Amino acid sequence: MLRSFVALVLFVAGLCPMVRSQRQPVDAEGHQWWQHAVFYEIYPRSFMDSNNDGIGDLNGIASKLDYLKSLGVDAIWITPCYPSPQVDFGYDVSDYENIDPMYGTLADFDRLEKAAEQHGIRIIMDFVMNHTSDQHPWFIDSRSSRTSAKRNWYMWHDGKDSAEPNNWVSTFGGSAWTWDAKTGQYFYHYFYPQQPDLNWRNPMVHDAMFDVTRWWYRRGVAGFRLDAVDTLFEDREMRDNPVQPGKDKFGDPVEENIYNTKLPEVHVVLRDLRKVADQNNAVLIGETWTKDVSELKQYYGEHSDELQMPMDFMFATVDRLSPAEFRRQIAAVDSAGGWPVFVLSNHDIVRSYVRYGDGKNNQAIAKLMASLYLTLRGTPIMYYGEEIGMENNDPVRKEDVKDPIGRVGWPEEKGRDGERTPMQWDDSPNAGFTRGTPWLPVPLSYKAVNVASELKDPSSVLQMYRSLLALRHENRALLDGDYVAVNESDANVLSYLRRYKNEAVLVVLNMSSQSQQVSFDLAPQGFNAKSARTLLTTMADGSKAGSLSHLSLEPFSVYIGVVSK
Ligand code: NOJ
Ligand code: CA
Repeated sequence: MLRSFVALVLFVAGLCPMVRSQRQPVDAEGHQWWQHAVFYEIYPRSFMDSNNDGIGDLNGIASKLDYLKSLGVDAIWITPCYPSPQVDFGYDVSDYENIDPMYGTLADFDRLEKAAEQHGIRIIMDFVMNHTSDQHPWFIDSRSSRTSAKRNWYMWHDGKDSAEPNNWVSTFGGSAWTWDAKTGQYFYHYFYPQQPDLNWRNPMVHDAMFDVTRWWYRRGVAGFRLDAVDTLFEDREMRDNPVQPGKDKFGDPVEENIYNTKLPEVHVVLRDLRKVADQNNAVLIGETWTKDVSELKQYYGEHSDELQMPMDFMFATVDRLSPAEFRRQIAAVDSAGGWPVFVLSNHDIVRSYVRYGDGKNNQAIAKLMASLYLTLRGTPIMYYGEEIGMENNDPVRKEDVKDPIGRVGWPEEKGRDGERTPMQWDDSPNAGFTRGTPWLPVPLSYKAVNVASELKDPSSVLQMYRSLLALRHENRALLDGDYVAVNESDANVLSYLRRYKNEAVLVVLNMSSQSQQVSFDLAPQGFNAKSARTLLTTMADGSKAGSLSHLSLEPFSVYIGVVSK
């Protein structure tokens, strides 16, 4: 009897994904796979074009898995590649359970998934939860009549005093309400009118969207990046947002979005999504724009039962090379209780190469910034091209702009085309991305800034990324160690330890354009050694051990070494 009970338990354990769930640590610290993994965001239109139509595709991604593996990538997040009218380049989904023909087929996806698995690379899909495309069959049905079975799947409202139901503006410009003449009501859209918001208070919406996640888990995906997660719910009473003085870049009133973002109901959905993710050993990454760490903390969940990886955008919005600001930001996130998630760039923000570069030392600064966020306690999410020092290539004429917000907000808002240009693979035409006409132009700098050239140059940004990623995969202190700030009053040099048992890695980053001399007294942290053993440095005399009493740093240089007790 007992034996058959045990056999049954083992059988169910084998079948039930719940048992293969989060409770499988990858190390003695209890860390999960996503805490040791390096994530890499791929904008599929721009990564690699396999059929030369000028647009990247899934087979293109598959052809670059060797590159990603040798770079040190463990998981790729693919931004939306579902069928879509492409008004917001995929963030307007018209079918959640398919692949847009421009990117390939479901069979291509399955092949990519299998090949990625063979490379030890997991796939994260983008889950556009807040809205669908206006071409999604759900919305087509919903707008067909007031009595449609899907009417209540979206946010339909009567106008007020012959105008919009309230003062909410779209974050992409104009009113957040669009009038539908046929059915005589307004529908709500936090983004473009072609992206109507789903009504998450409707249990049928909830269930249909949850089924989408299960469908992709069954196909083998390892998690989701949750798009615009704070916009899921709106105030039941539809109160006007408070308005501040002035106008935004679209000429709209500046509103505090207190009634249409960050409502507490979001967290109920996140907890439910987490349960399903846990059943699939999956990770949930949040597009979590937060104003401070206390807001960020909420996304981890009071009982760590919401997002494992809410992105810390406050780190990415530190707008200059300021050790004090980074120190403050890192310490705040590190002490928030969850596992930090660091991002430098993505498809919505100007590339870090440009944001932090001074125009003269951009290569050194790119290495410096990589050394910062790839050695912190937490999981980094890279953005394609960052590893070769790709720059923004912003449109110079309004007529060239593809991203609609760049057309609406020109010239103050040029849109996001500049950070979405094709990956630069080599110095052949179109940087080897396509033999057709690329959907966005490649900057002239691609002749030098490309994967093939940088692989041959030991001092390239790419080689620095490869070295850093190799180090963080093998070094226990970098994987598991505590973050301990040192020399906290230094205004030019950011230094910290990653301390693990009897060892620590010392990271020293000269964020200034001058040479600096630094000394360290690490006795209070329990380390009496007089010097560090160099692991990685950008300094010319790189082979030397680092003296802890007198370390000379070149401008924008990096020193990383091990100290022992
Ligand atoms: C955030 C995405 O990152 C962005 O690219 C998109 O335009 C909006 N969400 C709307 O889905
Ligand atoms: Ca293509």
